[in-house]
Amino acid sequence: MSKGLLLIWLIFFFQLVSLSTSSKDISFVFNGFGQSNLSLVGSATLLPNGLLQLAKDSQHQMGHAFIKKPVEFSSSKPLSFSTHFVCALVPKPRFEGGHGITFVISPSVDFTRAQPTRYMGIFNASISGSPSSHLFAVELDTVRNPDFRETNNNHVGIDVNDPISVESAPASYFSKTEQKNVSINLSSGDPIQVWVDYHGTVLNVSVAPLEAEKPSLPLLSRSMNLSEIFSSRRLFVGFAAATGTSISYHYLLGWSFSTNMELLQLLDFSKLPQVPRPRAEHKKLPFVLIIALTVILAIIVMAVLAGVYAEVSEPWEKVCGSK
Ligand SMILES: *[C@@H]1O[C@H](CO)[C@@H](O)[C@H](O)[C@H]1NC(C)=O
Ligand SMILES: *[C@@H]1O[C@H](CO)[C@@H](O)[C@H](O)[C@H]1NC(C)=O
Ligand SMILES: *[C@@H]1O[C@H](CO)[C@@H](O)[C@H](O)[C@H]1NC(C)=O
Ligand SMILES: *[C@@H]1O[C@H](CO)[C@@H](O)[C@H](O)[C@H]1NC(C)=O
Ligand SMILES: *[C@@H]1O[C@H](CO)[C@@H](O)[C@H](O)[C@H]1NC(C)=O
Ligand SMILES: *[C@@H]1O[C@H](CO)[C@@H](O)[C@H](O)[C@H]1NC(C)=O
Repeated sequence: MSKGLLLIWLIFFFQLVSLSTSSKDISFVFNGFGQSNLSLVGSATLLPNGLLQLAKDSQHQMGHAFIKKPVEFSSSKPLSFSTHFVCALVPKPRFEGGHGITFVISPSVDFTRAQPTRYMGIFNASISGSPSSHLFAVELDTVRNPDFRETNNNHVGIDVNDPISVESAPASYFSKTEQKNVSINLSSGDPIQVWVDYHGTVLNVSVAPLEAEKPSLPLLSRSMNLSEIFSSRRLFVGFAAATGTSISYHYLLGWSFSTNMELLQLLDFSKLPQVPRPRAEHKKLPFVLIIALTVILAIIVMAVLAGVYAEVSEPWEKVCGSK
């Protein structure tokens, strides 16, 4: 009798514990952003096909897309999360591509004081490096800034309160099929998968093309304590992008996020929106063709007219000459 009661109590207790821990975990997935409910600020816009365009295709633009309500990270556990997203960076025709996309965790979504270009739309020149920034970001950076100690215009970096990355590496992934590191062109315009995992002590970042699996070895793996960056556990997660004199179309296709790696939902690639390719390149051929056809047509018309004139004028001259 008392054993039975204890058992019931134990079952009740464990259900309560599992309920309270699972209710604190937050998970969401967006396959396209049509129903996403994100707050879009600056030049971020949602395109009709569900593609999220983060920065306008002109100079010195910033765009931000964040969840509307902050994530309440559990204060009784070490801060942890997993995220997987797909983005595409398409250089504007006749421009260098730039500057890049960042995945951001921040206690505030007020980026009115932030600057575009190499500050990526989240940092600014005067407070860079200050712990009062309370900013964590993973950057896909497509412009090389030597004053930020960047050696390469195609890198992935971990940023803590500062656009000077604490760690970065040229974009590449460990390919399972080829059993070697394969480099990725972030500015190719092709969709790129990005994973960021943090479980209290080590932060891992991986990138890969759409057709590849999650690499077994992360590109960046760094020991860090994210709890030291933030004074609050109410944190917004989202994305920013910025242009400068270098301009790319910065697109986000899909995003999955969870505070618990086991609950991270899979992205459904079949539902992701298509990335438009800049029209200028496609227009070139028809435009050349139109010019060529017009010239050929003009020559034919002139030749025909000249022939008709010759035929008409001959008898006319004869008539005139005889008079
Ligand atoms: C969208 O966000 C608002 C504000 O956070 C919330 O009230 C609303 O329920 C959300 N809608 C959906 C469909 O998630
Ligand atoms: C940078 O941000 C800080 C804090 O928001 C602000 O006080 C400062 O004026 C900003 N600087 C610039 C150059 O925008
Ligand atoms: C990356 O792709 C872009 C767009 O196709 C191209 O302009 C650029 O040269 C490529 N970069 C490298 C290093 O291959
Ligand atoms: C990070 O990567 C290392 C090395 O591959 C791995 O041992 C570790 O479990 C990973 N951690 C997370 C949180 O993914
Ligand atoms: C592949 O890249 C990873 C991450 O940058 C590095 O740790 C590893 O040594 C590289 N492996 C090879 C075979 O080059
Ligand atoms: C991380 O930082 C927080 C806040 O400073 C501290 O309470 C915690 O013990 C640190 N965790 C580790 C593993 O050092």
